[in-house]
Amino acid sequence: MRYGYFDDARREYVITRPDTPLPWINYLGDQDYFALISNTAGGYSFYRDARLRRLTRYRYNNIPLDTGGRYLYIRDDQTGEFWSPTWQPVRRALESYTCRHGLGYTIISSIRDNIEARIRYFVPPSQNLEIWDATILNHRDESFSLSLFSAVEFALWDAWDDSTNFQRNLNTGEVEVDDSVIYHKTEYRERRDHFAYFACSEPLSGYDTQRDAFLGPYCGWDNPFVVEHGAPTNSIAHGWAPIGSHHTKISLGPGESKRIIYLLGYFDNPGEDKFDPPGSQIINKRRLKPIINRYLDIGQVDEAFDSLVTQWERLLGIYQVETSDEHTDRMVNIWNPYQCMVTFNLSRSASYFESGIGRGMGFRDSNQDLLGFVHMVPQRARERILDLAATQLESGGAYHQYQPLTKKGNDAVGSNFNDDPLWLVLSTAAYLKETADWSILDELVPYENTPGTEEPLWDHLQRCLQYTMDRLGPHGLPLIGRADWNDCLNLNAFSKETGQSFQTTTNMDGKVAESVFIAGLFVLAAKEMVELAEIRGLTTLASHYKVTISSIEAAVLKHGWDGEWFLRAYDHFGEEVGSHVCQEGQIFIEPQGMCVMAGIGLGKNLAMRALDSVNKRLASEHGIILHQPAYTKYYLNLGEISSYPPGYKENAGIFCHANPWIMIAETVIGRGDQAHDYYLRINPSAREAISDLHKCEPYVYSQMIAGRDAVAFGEAKNSWLTGTAAWNYVAITQWILGIRPTYSGLVISPVIPKDWKGFSAVRVFRGVTYEIYVERRGPGDNISLIINGNPVEGNTAPIPADGIQKVSVKALIG
Ligand code: GLC
Ligand code: GLC
Repeated sequence: MRYGYFDDARREYVITRPDTPLPWINYLGDQDYFALISNTAGGYSFYRDARLRRLTRYRYNNIPLDTGGRYLYIRDDQTGEFWSPTWQPVRRALESYTCRHGLGYTIISSIRDNIEARIRYFVPPSQNLEIWDATILNHRDESFSLSLFSAVEFALWDAWDDSTNFQRNLNTGEVEVDDSVIYHKTEYRERRDHFAYFACSEPLSGYDTQRDAFLGPYCGWDNPFVVEHGAPTNSIAHGWAPIGSHHTKISLGPGESKRIIYLLGYFDNPGEDKFDPPGSQIINKRRLKPIINRYLDIGQVDEAFDSLVTQWERLLGIYQVETSDEHTDRMVNIWNPYQCMVTFNLSRSASYFESGIGRGMGFRDSNQDLLGFVHMVPQRARERILDLAATQLESGGAYHQYQPLTKKGNDAVGSNFNDDPLWLVLSTAAYLKETADWSILDELVPYENTPGTEEPLWDHLQRCLQYTMDRLGPHGLPLIGRADWNDCLNLNAFSKETGQSFQTTTNMDGKVAESVFIAGLFVLAAKEMVELAEIRGLTTLASHYKVTISSIEAAVLKHGWDGEWFLRAYDHFGEEVGSHVCQEGQIFIEPQGMCVMAGIGLGKNLAMRALDSVNKRLASEHGIILHQPAYTKYYLNLGEISSYPPGYKENAGIFCHANPWIMIAETVIGRGDQAHDYYLRINPSAREAISDLHKCEPYVYSQMIAGRDAVAFGEAKNSWLTGTAAWNYVAITQWILGIRPTYSGLVISPVIPKDWKGFSAVRVFRGVTYEIYVERRGPGDNISLIINGNPVEGNTAPIPADGIQKVSVKALIG
């Protein structure tokens, strides 16, 4: 069952009923100011950091689901009846309802009693404010007088403190009201120089800033006392819970409409000039006023919206494709890169499944996310790489997470996740292939953000490999540390205490448990380093890496091959994990994908056997399961993985992040049909028709789909902030469609289904627009390239001479 439809021409998903199985959200903002907005206008906003600079309140896990947001109430002043044009929070029936989630904006429209409302929410590019652009239309035959109330609840800035230290916060809330603008200035009197504001383009008939005055005793957002009675109280918050609510009265003749603009924003004054007049306690608004005036102007609002649209056209224009499959086109051209940008901006911090209070930026997560957005914002990718490298330790290891505001490593979680550093090699290589900006390797970067320890990034990368080489176990395979990519496979944490953290408990010495996955990742990363070393003319270093690659490969073939698939690991006792000898957890997805991607065992035909085993044992109609059989009980020697009920998360869930590794592996052995079939199983658009089962948004990937062992097999969770976005983008664009940046040019090497006749694509690469036409001449994947009409050897379209901006590529495959 569907709850809406894709409008590809407008790059929107249109939700046609408000009661979606879960709130279906969107993100606004691109630089510093961000907002989460659901299909019923729920969500919250923050400046840079969802914990420390949260503008508005949100109560997670609340009931009714998803209350707290950006609300408007329409009140019929003749009858006293009122409703929410966004359905929530009043939830009174609407005769028509649509929510259009677009790229960086959301438009919610509805009609009730012949009164139509349309609200467009967006953040103008690089601005620290959001616009609610509301239009009310009277479709009745007579005039209509209405009251329009707005409502937001201000958070007291630190979202953690806000829910834990309210004995204090209930005494600190302060506001100012000036004209049609409500200012939230809690703690501005002392050390904060920032404040929030909520402006309205109309003259006010009144306002409220004290939550309890607005709602009335024991009332909720669904029936505020003030809205019910049509009479604001002009309350000024002193402590308790500050809110912002404007009241405006509007009269509309038959067929008339009215546009009203609201602005919700963040502003920061210079500390020495924050009061006006100086010495008073009144916010200095002189710098802010011009911004408010600008965006309360309808012409400016439309211009800002147009520039948002143009920005996305440019970003998405870098890679566009036309195939015979609508799910591929829609995800590649619109939603997948969009989600990649959201993971770039938010990492794993703020979603409807991540509170914005907890995790910092993950080292491995951020490096992998980069693979999905580097082509769109290379400059910002560069900065991200250098930030990440600066949290590396001198040992070559890495802090598992760092804090976005300080950019410092997070001591609470620490390091010793032994896969972490290797991902930095992959992200840097991707950046270099995309940009050819070799200067990044010479950038001086400190270790642990400590001044005086700076070394070129190139040296950091060498330490990444050295870290693994210094930590090999009894079988010559890399030691796993606290965990590898699978955070929940904790082979050195024998945790017996309730509530103990699996991530930070390490009570075994760590000298035995080894990871075949890290071995695969090492080989993949080391091959990148060989290529880089050769380009830099460092042949001795390149040969040194080749020797280590061979020895790790040999160790995998000898001790990491189980007979029909790659083994997952050895545990603390040196026993196999992910082997046919195990009772449960006999085969895991990760080493099959990673080892084949690294090219291990290709010559010996092991790759095909491993992938056939994946197909036989792990593939399901809803995607590829992480391992089978699921763990049915808690294993002290395995850790968190066995803490989940069977079928959920890392315990045999369909962990979507690892699925594209198998898709890529399938293309490596030339099985385009299989690769694309797996691609479609988790492709959100292809799952739209089963939205009632899938439950999460049909336009973005979720981290997890419940596995075969789960009661709710096929049900997704944790949408939006997941490495799934980047890896699926890489799998489909670079491996299945096969258009892949390399140092010497653009490789065109599609491994597509046999029944595709071809496809066309446009890729802007290093400033050159490649127009690519792929034509199938036979069932195979052999390529002949014709560039600007001339046949060339190999599968690489070279970078043309300076000044040439367009290249036409014809690829014949068969
Ligand atoms: C989560 C983590 C990621 C990890 C994955 C598998 O998505 O953010 O770092 O690799 O789970 O455990
Ligand atoms: C939990 C989650 C896992 C995630 C980790 C991050 O273990 O199950 O998916 O990677 O937290 O710390």
